[in-house]
Amino acid sequence: MVPQYATRLVAAVAATIGLAGHVVSAGCPSYSSYSQYRHEPYSKGAYTLSYQRPEPGCRTFNSTVVEDAILRMKNLTTDPDLFRLFENTYPNTIDTAIKWRGFAANNTKEELAFIITGDIDAMWIRDSANQVAPYRSVLKSKDDDIASIFRGAINLQARYLIISPYCNAFLPPPEAELHPQPNGAMYSVTPPYDRNIVFTCNFELDDFGAFLQLSHDYYTRTGDVDFFGKFQWINAVQSILSASEALRKPTYGPDGEWIPPAYTFQSQTMTAFGTLGNNGMSYPVNERAWCAHVPTQRRRRHLRLPDPRQHDAVGASLEATAVIMEKLPTRPKAWRARCATWPPASAPGSSNSAS
Ligand SMILES: *[C@@H]1O[C@H](CO)[C@@H](O)[C@H](O)[C@H]1NC(C)=O
Ligand SMILES: *[C@@H]1O[C@H](CO)[C@@H](O)[C@H](O)[C@H]1NC(C)=O
Ligand SMILES: *[C@@H]1O[C@H](CO)[C@@H](O)[C@H](O)[C@H]1NC(C)=O
Repeated sequence: MVPQYATRLVAAVAATIGLAGHVVSAGCPSYSSYSQYRHEPYSKGAYTLSYQRPEPGCRTFNSTVVEDAILRMKNLTTDPDLFRLFENTYPNTIDTAIKWRGFAANNTKEELAFIITGDIDAMWIRDSANQVAPYRSVLKSKDDDIASIFRGAINLQARYLIISPYCNAFLPPPEAELHPQPNGAMYSVTPPYDRNIVFTCNFELDDFGAFLQLSHDYYTRTGDVDFFGKFQWINAVQSILSASEALRKPTYGPDGEWIPPAYTFQSQTMTAFGTLGNNGMSYPVNERAWCAHVPTQRRRRHLRLPDPRQHDAVGASLEATAVIMEKLPTRPKAWRARCATWPPASAPGSSNSAS
């Protein structure tokens, strides 16, 4: 095995040449390399597990509420290996994935957080929401350090959902000056999208649910309703509703005539599951917000069928979000009626669902 210090040196040099973010110093190894080697101190349990948190100077965000939670957990956990697993994983998003934090160029009060899933400099809507979600248990006030990550994620997701609601992964915002690397893959998508903003455009209905759920988490933990009226959040919810309404339109009319769907996706791929059938239009649907790309990417993906569980989950998130919208003086007048048109699980169209 290569000595650890040699590996770290190579990785550090690579990081200096390559992706020097705003947050982490250029001398830090990329976490993809760092995570492949064992680091001391090892846990005192049977498994002598490695300590995998980056050096403090190389972490992408510091949170005292998260550090306090780790210390509390240490007191409560008698198995040192179990505690080590928690200590390595719980802070992992803030340690490694907050690629950039800052403010919108057109509003110096609008916090933004660009959160990556791993080695690619792109932010997935669903993944970033779910990476931040575990910190809701330590989020108690809008003044907590971690609250800024929630607001930054929600604001940036809102921007993306307004620009391209059917897309699922996005490049860094121009404010980050991270020199985005557009995706070289060949996709043909309607509606068309800007390759300098979007990384992939695989529509997933649960992206909407993830954004709404994160919003609800932030609201219920902090009570900070004003935040939602200040920036783009209302417009993002409107964009989600419009995009869903368009997808709920049937693709066959009463007389069987063809109605093109709002979203189509075709890709040059080596697998049958990597594109949508029926020339990118998928199966005909009838009234339900269908889901083109499902999260497990295996179970239902090949069927390309509407997914009633996702449909209902987004409906539930919309209901939860309604609590916020009702408190905002600037809410659009007709929004409640639009929200109410989300058909319940038993609505007509369930014959399309392969549950
Ligand atoms: C986190 O704190 C360490 C010192 O403990 C510091 O070196 C590092 O720059 C901080 N990281 C950020 C993103 O502020
Ligand atoms: C951990 O337990 C010790 C001893 O009971 C206590 O003094 C300390 O405050 C606890 N720390 C945390 C973070 O709960
Ligand atoms: C601010 O800039 C972003 C990115 O250029 C844009 O998407 C957004 O619509 C702008 N916001 C306003 C309120 O003009």
